[in-house]
Amino acid sequence: TSPMATNVTWHPSLSRHERNELRRQRGFTIWFTGLSASGKSTVATALEQHLLHTGLAAYRLDGDNVRFGLNKDLGFSEKDRNENIRRIAEVAKLFADSSTIALTSFISPYRADRQIARDLHANATQGGDDPLPFIEVFVDIPLAEAEKRDPKGLYKKARAGEIKDFTGISAPYEAPESPEITIRTDQLSVEECVQTISNYLAEKGLIA
Ligand code: PPS
Repeated sequence: TSPMATNVTWHPSLSRHERNELRRQRGFTIWFTGLSASGKSTVATALEQHLLHTGLAAYRLDGDNVRFGLNKDLGFSEKDRNENIRRIAEVAKLFADSSTIALTSFISPYRADRQIARDLHANATQGGDDPLPFIEVFVDIPLAEAEKRDPKGLYKKARAGEIKDFTGISAPYEAPESPEITIRTDQLSVEECVQTISNYLAEKGLIA
């Protein structure tokens, strides 16, 4: 009469390896970085859909679900951006630990902050688990191109001095020195960008 399956063994806690086996999926983080209007969110959204369509659990963290919720107390000063990225890195790590593919699309302009995110994944080895894979994707377009796109008119406002600390204009963007992947959204279609990334994931054995 018990609804419980037989042969179920209870462990005090599952290892990540066991969780991945049961979920039939390996969790990891794909970290997009690039200027405002570089195409981070467009490519991350398309990749998320692609992964979901292949039956994998994937979830995108971006400004719409983070800066209006978890991080609604943060602005765009250097200190606030540091904290924004620190919290996002912690959340991405939890998603990855839960055997989900976490995709983050934030400017994340500071190299040191991205390194903190990377280290957090590398050091998630408690209980003998393997490090969590962390794939940094540099969405690389020339500033002039981002400024030409200017979908929200923010570059124009920043040039006019109406927005202070605007990335690329009055605040720094530190390009990655050795990202796992670089994509040029001004030269490739969204589909080609998604293909480039999913080819990489397949080559590394992260997805089938
Ligand atoms: S960061 O640097 O990673 O903390 O930024 P992020 O959380 O990705 O937020 C970037 C989006 O916020 C809008 N916005 C600004 N961007 C840069 N600098 C300033 N000062 C700024 N103020 C508002 C902007 O629309 C960014 O959107 P995206 O999607 O990147 O184009």
